[in-house]
Amino acid sequence: MNWTKYQDIGIEAALKAGRMLRENMSSHREITYKGVVDLVTNFDSRSQDIILNHLSSFFPDHDFLAEEDPSERRRSEFRWIIDPIDGTTNFAHSFPVFCISIALEYQDNIAAGIIYDPMRDEIFSAVEGDGAHLNGSRIMVSRIDDLDKSLLATGFPYDLRKSRMNNIDHFINFIKQAQAVRRCGSAALDICYVACGRFDGFWEIKLKPWDVAAASLILSEAGGRASDFHGNPLNIFGIETLGSNGLIHKQMVEVLQSKKKV
Ligand code: IPD
Ligand code: CA
Ligand code: CA
Repeated sequence: MNWTKYQDIGIEAALKAGRMLRENMSSHREITYKGVVDLVTNFDSRSQDIILNHLSSFFPDHDFLAEEDPSERRRSEFRWIIDPIDGTTNFAHSFPVFCISIALEYQDNIAAGIIYDPMRDEIFSAVEGDGAHLNGSRIMVSRIDDLDKSLLATGFPYDLRKSRMNNIDHFINFIKQAQAVRRCGSAALDICYVACGRFDGFWEIKLKPWDVAAASLILSEAGGRASDFHGNPLNIFGIETLGSNGLIHKQMVEVLQSKKKV
């Protein structure tokens, strides 16, 4: 299958929504709380509407799995998996680190992935088997093979205050074994940054399929590796996400499996 046409239409949707978000960086946002710290803005739904309208005008029979949209599956072989703003807390605070994530799944396999960062005008993209690109130029993961010298990224789940499974134990272990650990607030961008060598590894728990679907393809097409915390192939519906340049993957699995809690 030639996925380029699908990718191009996905990029158009992401650019349209991203421009709208960028223009509204200083506009008033209506904030609704899904939980104590889990918020959503009126721009999440505006972004999603733009993306869904664009994609469904070309592909009316496809399925859509979008974060702010509860619609039922039609059982098409094609499903678009969409996060209309990944990094909503950042967007709500005018912290300019967020993106739009769009993946196309075909017969349960991710075929194309698009991540657009409207503040830097960076489009990360990949189609299966054709490498990963940043604004059209080929990207590759870093060559760092030592955790000691690695810059890592992570994030924390919204139920951090209530659940003991909150990633703080892993964070403490990694901060003592890596060169440094960042928490930027957009898992999709974090994984793209591993894909282009800005980070060497990333881990997080309790992510959703729309956080990781597009980014995991971009990472693997850039020569990286995506898995669960045991090194098994990544399940985008699973609870554990580990992504790396491949070279430090085993070392990261060892830290994630270590019983040492500091
Ligand atoms: C969140 C971001 C954040 C991660 C959270 C995600 P949202 O997505 O990716 O970096 O730590 O786990 O839920 O809510 O901004 O779309
Ligand atoms: Ca997200
Ligand atoms: Ca979101």
